[in-house]
Amino acid sequence: MSASNMKRIPPVRPLFAAVCAVFLAAQVLAADSPREHLSLDLNWKFHLGDDFPNASDLSHLGTSTGPVTERFDDSAWGSVNLPHDWAIELPYDRTGDKDHSYRPIGPGFPKNDVGWYRRTFELTAADAGKRIWLTFDGAYRDTTVWVNGWLVCHPMGGYNPFREDITDVVHPGGRNTLAVRVDASKFEGWFYEGAGIYRHVWLDKTAPVAIAPDGVFVYTKHFSGGPVIFIQTTIQNSSDDPSSNGGFGSSGGVTHQIYDPDGKMVASFMQPMVGDSRTSTFHQDTKIGLLNQREFDFSICMGGGFWGGGWAPNGFITNMPVLWSPEDPKLYKLVTLVRADGQLVDQKETSFGIRSVGFDATNGFLLNGKHYELQGVCIHQDWPGVGVAVPDSLQYFRVRRLKEMGCNAIRTAHNPPAPGFLDACDQLGMLVMDEHRLPGADTETLRKWDDQVRRDRNHPSVAIWSIGNEERGVQDTPQGANVARTMQALVKRLDPTRPVTYAAPNGNTFRGINSVIEVRGWNYFIDPGSDQYHADHPNQPEVCTEQGSIVSTRGSYANDWQHGDISAYDTNWPGWTPPNAQTLWSFVAERPWLSGMFVWSGFDYGGEPSPMGWPNISSQFGILDRCGFPKDAFYYYQSWWQTNPVLHLLPHWNWPGKEGQDLRVVAYSNCKQVELFLNGVSQGRQEMKRNSDLAWQVKYAPGTLSAKGFDAAGKIIAETKVETTGDATQIQLTPDRKTINADGEDVAVFTVAALDTQGRAVPVAQNQIKFALEGPGKIIGVGNGDPSCHEPDKVAEGAPWSRSLFNGLAQIIVQSTRNSGEFKLTASADGLAPATAAVQTQPCTPRPALP
Ligand code: GAL
Repeated sequence: MSASNMKRIPPVRPLFAAVCAVFLAAQVLAADSPREHLSLDLNWKFHLGDDFPNASDLSHLGTSTGPVTERFDDSAWGSVNLPHDWAIELPYDRTGDKDHSYRPIGPGFPKNDVGWYRRTFELTAADAGKRIWLTFDGAYRDTTVWVNGWLVCHPMGGYNPFREDITDVVHPGGRNTLAVRVDASKFEGWFYEGAGIYRHVWLDKTAPVAIAPDGVFVYTKHFSGGPVIFIQTTIQNSSDDPSSNGGFGSSGGVTHQIYDPDGKMVASFMQPMVGDSRTSTFHQDTKIGLLNQREFDFSICMGGGFWGGGWAPNGFITNMPVLWSPEDPKLYKLVTLVRADGQLVDQKETSFGIRSVGFDATNGFLLNGKHYELQGVCIHQDWPGVGVAVPDSLQYFRVRRLKEMGCNAIRTAHNPPAPGFLDACDQLGMLVMDEHRLPGADTETLRKWDDQVRRDRNHPSVAIWSIGNEERGVQDTPQGANVARTMQALVKRLDPTRPVTYAAPNGNTFRGINSVIEVRGWNYFIDPGSDQYHADHPNQPEVCTEQGSIVSTRGSYANDWQHGDISAYDTNWPGWTPPNAQTLWSFVAERPWLSGMFVWSGFDYGGEPSPMGWPNISSQFGILDRCGFPKDAFYYYQSWWQTNPVLHLLPHWNWPGKEGQDLRVVAYSNCKQVELFLNGVSQGRQEMKRNSDLAWQVKYAPGTLSAKGFDAAGKIIAETKVETTGDATQIQLTPDRKTINADGEDVAVFTVAALDTQGRAVPVAQNQIKFALEGPGKIIGVGNGDPSCHEPDKVAEGAPWSRSLFNGLAQIIVQSTRNSGEFKLTASADGLAPATAAVQTQPCTPRPALP
């Protein structure tokens, strides 16, 4: 139904709104919505290998055999839960693709390219008449899905969600069989991409009249008197009821309830909705303004004259809303209730934040109307131990690590993120550049782009869309400009609040995409040329979409081509970018119009082992290593990206054999002055320039290297020391949290370290550590951040777990089961005293799931 057909809804007056709120709250709380949103992650059977020659034959329905059919016997297959990535279990192979982490998958490895998944699920007789939807949050890569032998979808590409209404082919009151073939034989990127159903799968049951998939969009616009909340609701009518009101019956309508961050309902009202039996989709627009904001009423009236001009708010909230920001990520909740014929037929919760974002050609990025420096990083999706099958709670761990550094923004290079990642960013406070895999204006690409924007547009963390990255072959052409215009125009139709960018690697060039893109992205090449670009195009906002690519290995202080280490002194850079973090950030920080930057990269990631290649199996671009252990550069950014005093020294102080030799000591700090001492003897006090670092040449002697940091008044505000340790004698195990949820999904991330007799962490320990677990938990992966470690991330069911320390550290991830209690992890090693650490798994309500 077009907006012009819709019945005009008169403005709701405040008193009426308040009365409505009370009345509807009472009514709605008693109701029970028929929508069920169920996880399908559990109890899949899995087989690696395309061993069923006719099974994927698409020539005739019903002719395919093997796993596709309901009668197939999969009892000999393995058992897995989702998310699942089979590539992370394959041993490294030097003949594999280096950019895919030398895993034997893709071209040349047909045995490992295809995975089959099967599972069954029951529907009840009461499900007859409901709509049944199947949603995959993402699978790598080309996927074919059959339900009860019927082909239901065949999407290509490894990063987008896909969804099908499978109502017609299910058996209500019976058993249903889901068969999925995932073909990972083609690469889509130049980084580790994984393989399999690596994100969640869902089954939704709804009434025939229900909120459409991604059918609620809530956003805010900010006016001088305060924000206005806009709600767009799309209702889908799949009933074949030809009655005049298109399935809504005589008393259909949509109720909106808004809850503030404390859980208090601050607005509630119903709007009737009139359907049309000739159409199956209804749209409803709602606006909620501020009550008692005289200035607001006045300015709106005076401003555009739209108050009372068909634009008046439909409801009000009474208090000035709390604004969302990375520092104070306060979330509101919208509850949407749909009624038809007086019955509640659907209910959905949407979390949202009240905030504004924008990019300005002079002032750069604006959050809630003020300049806000983007202190960002680019990240890929993978993590040691789990590959791309990252549990939702691990997404929170990753975001927390970056926040510790003062990072406030992440670019999801180079693909749409997992929904759980965006939830973590909303809740913990992290802005997001939400990137599409490839630019394009063909039907398939635009459908994916449309899906991505609709799926992610309610997240307050998402600040900007990116249409893609570094398409050097086409970006500068007139066609590049056309495609960017088309993708940008689609965003404007779907999301009137966020701008669009493109990660452009071409310096001072105003051709093709750069000439039409709303916010000019800079991948590298910031230099006098970028100043000239800004002078030449003073009205185009800009952002540093990607900078850095400085390489280093955590805890190693010399380049070593044999082991594959690159010095952590932050002195190795690829040549097309400023040579270190200090030069880079100083350049960006002095130019507010650049909006800040996204450093390549937040964490090391699988693949792209530049510049060394084998034995490196991962990249070394990270500010943190693959496990999230900080490299030294972390403290450079921490010094200038947040305000607490920071004082960090490098290198470590275990250099037997180098006595009397000059060693370069560097301090990362935001103190005004730093004084360095070796064994109590001052090595000199130096002034720190803003966005800078300090260095001393020191003749090595074992003992204690220490430093004091002073403020402008000469008061000591920070102290640190690095000591020469003895040999490792004991293990230390530290979980990131002492209590996790017993939901079968939550994880505890343990740091494993080796200590000397005085309890000091030994930075050069490389001991092999064995792990044993007792109680309600499951080890799901190990890592150590060594870019050249070829030990397995996972072991076969029942096999012992182990991992060597790399430069003193390793990581092990333990997942809860659905049983509450306590699990105990023990770490042991030859010659070291073992360590045991316990984690409580607390009772909780796991997310609703089909068994
Ligand atoms: C960029 C690219 C990234 C990564 C990086 C390494 O050009 O966008 O994906 O490859 O180089 O320096």
